Amino acid sequence: MEKQIITAKNNRTFVFRELQVDDAQILGDFFVNLSADTRSRFGPHPLSREHALKLCSASDTSVSRFIVENDTEIAGYFILDFNLFEHEKSRYLSYGTALQCKIDPVFAPCIADKYQNSGIASQVMLKIIEFALNKGLRSLVLMGGTQESNHLARAFYKKLGFTEYGSFNTEMVNIDMKLNLSGQF
Ligand SMILES: CC(C)(COP(=O)(O)OP(=O)(O)OC[C@H]1O[C@@H](n2cnc3c(N)ncnc32)[C@H](O)[C@@H]1OP(=O)(O)O)[C@@H](O)C(=O)NCCC(=O)NCCS
Repeated sequence: MEKQIITAKNNRTFVFRELQVDDAQILGDFFVNLSADTRSRFGPHPLSREHALKLCSASDTSVSRFIVENDTEIAGYFILDFNLFEHEKSRYLSYGTALQCKIDPVFAPCIADKYQNSGIASQVMLKIIEFALNKGLRSLVLMGGTQESNHLARAFYKKLGFTEYGSFNTEMVNIDMKLNLSGQF
């Protein structure tokens, strides 16, 4: 994917691009600077410098990772994972949907605390949806759902056309959400 320019609500511009091997330092900075609140809502993998190094060195074609950056730092990180997770698969089966890993990847976004609610992820999602449509994907499945109490995230996903499928309990209530791509755009 080509680098693309993202403009936040305050007209600041960022670059949206795929994660590269030499991003370990800035990705590590991004992970370790996330607040406890953001970490409680976004935990797809360890959020450490060591893990940033591991992710940047890996040549795993079954996961696409994207970042939004300015000249100095990463403002957002987005995962599209084509390794279908058993938990998602079985929950969606209970809603009557058989997910397929090649066309229904799981998706997880995270924006750095100081950039949240600035319109960045809304802009990025248009690029990710375009990327997904070009790849012939059928849907984007929210990784681990979203916490019922995460009102910003739920409003954000609904605005983009995600549908709520059902709920499940961990130590809190979580809502499964999925964006169906076919026929919508
Ligand atoms: C959820 C997240 C990815 C959204 O990205 P973002 O760049 O902050 O989102 P945007 O600014 O593009 O859009 C947020 C929308 O929510 C709305 N919103 C903000 N606070 C809200 C609230 N308390 N209730 C309802 N809507 C709210 C905003 O008005 C905005 O919509 P608008 O642009 O139409 O006005 C980001 O905030 C984030 O990373 N949060 C922490 C980690 C997380 O929750 N990840 C998702 C796990 S499922």
